[in-house]
Amino acid sequence: MITLNNWRNHYRDRLVSAEQALSSVKSGDRVVIGHACGEPSALVEALVARAPELSDVEIVHMVAMGPAKYTQPGMEKSFRHNAFFVGASTRKAVEEKRGDYTPCFFSEVPRLFKNKVLPVDVVLLQVTPPDKDGFCSYGVSVDYTMSAAQEARIVIAQMNSFLPRTGGAKIALDEFSYIVENDEPLIELKPPQVGEVEKKIGENVASLIPDGATMQLGIGAIPDAVLLFLKEKRDLGIHSEMFSDGVVFLAEAGVITNRKKTINPGKFTATFLMGTRKLYDFVDNNPDVELYPVDYVNDPYIIGQHEKMMSINSALQVDLMGQVNAEMIGIKQFSGIGGQVDFVRGASRSCGGKSIIALPSTAAGGKISRIACELDLGSAVSTSRNDIHYVVTEYGIAELRGKSLRERARALIAVSHPEFREILIAEAKNRGVF
Ligand code: COA
Repeated sequence: MITLNNWRNHYRDRLVSAEQALSSVKSGDRVVIGHACGEPSALVEALVARAPELSDVEIVHMVAMGPAKYTQPGMEKSFRHNAFFVGASTRKAVEEKRGDYTPCFFSEVPRLFKNKVLPVDVVLLQVTPPDKDGFCSYGVSVDYTMSAAQEARIVIAQMNSFLPRTGGAKIALDEFSYIVENDEPLIELKPPQVGEVEKKIGENVASLIPDGATMQLGIGAIPDAVLLFLKEKRDLGIHSEMFSDGVVFLAEAGVITNRKKTINPGKFTATFLMGTRKLYDFVDNNPDVELYPVDYVNDPYIIGQHEKMMSINSALQVDLMGQVNAEMIGIKQFSGIGGQVDFVRGASRSCGGKSIIALPSTAAGGKISRIACELDLGSAVSTSRNDIHYVVTEYGIAELRGKSLRERARALIAVSHPEFREILIAEAKNRGVF
């Protein structure tokens, strides 16, 4: 166990170059990489550089925000990517079968490691330099990274002073097998473009949010658009899988105070963070920001204990029964389930809670209705019709909980794009819905 006196010795003993640290990876190992903007880029580079010597290394990752060179053509013999979420840098590889997608609720990923369903050989993570007691902050990614670090045979830490020091979970220096010092700017997620459709959706969603609510917000233009319309609200709180730059503005404006939160009052609670330096500076050494593992933050039982818990997520398609596809375009895995169902379930349990699926009424430049008679052949049901509560588009709000299939179809058609309503009504009649 690290003590105040000996952690500096431990640090010196474990300090190596990235090449030395990554030479511990063997063919056939399962390597877990820290999530999203917490990706330790220097360690990943050093692993990829070993491609000619390695075979069958499985790389487990959720959202890969870096270039994911290990998925490029020619790397197949050395590395196989196993994704819990497919993102821009890994989508092509999964589509072309150089990588795999493993369905799993985000809240349950740590259990795959802890219960040895997916035993972890090596974890690559990024941490802050140690504090005076020899503890490091996980910075912007605690999520599954912490359980992977607890379970891995070899723990390789990139120590990066650019990483913000966040409160909540921390890791002691004696948990590291190797320490690699490498200061580099973090991966950033630029704020999305918020168009007129997203603004209208944001306004509709915001009308459902009461003062004193605790919110979960997904990633992208719609959550950012919702934040634009919350300026007049009071005492909002954050208990969210992640948050981004949009939240900083509302915090500085005094709208988000976290005062009314039932659990972790006064704190912004999340499991990872993605944004620009503005967000990273806001959370750095901020006593009001705490990051915890995803099996705590995304646990529907924990989420549901908050009063007025609002979950706000998006989707690719919703059928007339209220089944939500948030992850596939036809047979192609576009993204993943992430924490959507964790928060939908949690919000349903919450006293005064609401779960909101918000999406534009059309896709592909208006050619496809996202409110569809049935989900595309081959696509998955992400949120089931039994879990669905509100569906919001730029045309309004459909409240589905407690509604019959006939009532749901009518409510959903009413928020579909006007150009598709006639055809949706005709198809619904054909199928005997009305
Ligand atoms: N049919 C065909 N194409 C479709 C489509 C449909 N039904 N729905 C969307 N598309 C296309 C869009 O036109 C767009 O293409 P373009 O980029 O060429 O314009 C693309 O698919 C992406 O759609 P968009 O709505 O812009 O996606 P997004 O970036 O807003 O992400 C989700 C939406 C649903 C994919 C995303 O929120 C997600 O992955 N959710 C699941 C996980 C989750 O909810 N996590 C929450 C906790 S963080």
